[in-house]
Amino acid sequence: MTAPRYRAVKGTRDLLPPESERWDAAERLGRELFRSHGYGEIRTPALEDTALFARSVGETTDIVHKEMYTFPDRKGRSLTLRPENTAGVARAIIENGLAAGPMPLRLYYMGQQFRYERPQAGRYREFRQIGAELFGVPGPEAEAELLEMLFEFLRSLGFQKLSIALNSVGTAETRAAFGEAVREYLEPRASAFGADERRKLAENPLRLLDSRDPAVREALAGSPRVTDFLDAESREHHARVRVLLTEAGVPHYEEPSLVRGLDYYTRTVFEVISKDLSAQDAVLGGGRYDRLVESLGGPPLPAVGFAIGEDRLMQLAPYRAASRGLLLVLPQTREDLPDAFGVAREARRLGLAVEVDLLVRGFRKGMIRANALYEGAGELGWDPERLYALFLGEAERARSTVTIKSLSSGEQETVPRAALAEFLRARVPA
Ligand code: HAM
Repeated sequence: MTAPRYRAVKGTRDLLPPESERWDAAERLGRELFRSHGYGEIRTPALEDTALFARSVGETTDIVHKEMYTFPDRKGRSLTLRPENTAGVARAIIENGLAAGPMPLRLYYMGQQFRYERPQAGRYREFRQIGAELFGVPGPEAEAELLEMLFEFLRSLGFQKLSIALNSVGTAETRAAFGEAVREYLEPRASAFGADERRKLAENPLRLLDSRDPAVREALAGSPRVTDFLDAESREHHARVRVLLTEAGVPHYEEPSLVRGLDYYTRTVFEVISKDLSAQDAVLGGGRYDRLVESLGGPPLPAVGFAIGEDRLMQLAPYRAASRGLLLVLPQTREDLPDAFGVAREARRLGLAVEVDLLVRGFRKGMIRANALYEGAGELGWDPERLYALFLGEAERARSTVTIKSLSSGEQETVPRAALAEFLRARVPA
């Protein structure tokens, strides 16, 4: 085979069946669960004004500083492919008047995000997030409800051992005072830092706390902790979050060095790390952002939310979509095609998945394909016990019958065409 002329853009990829069906099934589980908690779906545009992200995620963060797909449109307006969805949701609720409406407001989303990062396993330039945002509740009950829902989702996907790393970053004042302390601590040790790290030290020292630079990591040993700068109310809030999570049976632990790579957080921040991902990559992250809506021009509105990296989630999830039965309808000749369509229609009405051999390969070649399907059934998402071939040929036409063969047992039965629905209902479960 010659090399294809066109390839997917670096850091992007195609998602094909049956893997796409596994994703779809997981998404459906999520939708069901979020809806059962009162969440409605929000779909925001993938394109936003660049200024929205600078204002919310933060000018000096890695995301805004070097990972955004930003370009001028034909009129010279600066647009950005969203690197995350929280800013867009906040913008949308202000713009649509929801921020001034009844509270609490619960929204979830699923969709593509874009970051110009170095691609590697589990890290893409186009990736997908499943997220939820809860607005209008200042108390720790919001975190408790949100995280319990999140864990129910993770459990429904077969995760047993995940646990939430939890911290509080306090108020804006906490962060300013803590940032200063980190700067003072690191400055005498900064000679070994790279240029980018020195820039962060000057602009926003908190951004060094999750740096991947070994010199920075070494210098950070023994550095001040945000916990020591928390105000009494943030401390109390954090303690309550932990109590409520324990009561709800949500596994969590304290992670005093967790600050997260986005600037909008206040108080609670959290992440879920899996040992099965490369170092420092999280399956999901989130936290409270009580000032974001106001800072974008809306009313004061407390909020808390999470976003799961769907690519990482599906890479790790033990979950397998329930396999389905399949009826392969094999017309012997083109003359049998109309009847094949009729049979397919009838079977689909009973909830069966049906494929008609549109290439009319005939019984022998049709069965070669059917047996291949049987061999690979598990991989392809079919249940081998519920694979059937249905033959429509000259003999069947003459007698107004159809012949059905179970691929697992090899048993074959001829039934009157008029009794097909009854037979399928009794013997071929969907
Ligand atoms: P984030 O931590 O930047 O937070 O991203 C959330 C998750 O998206 C990460 O934990 C990771 O699983 C996934 N992710 C991020 N970058 C990539 C990538 N390049 N490739 C694959 N997956 C990736 C946010 O985006 C916040 N909006 C979360 C939030 C919601 N906070 C409050 N509400």
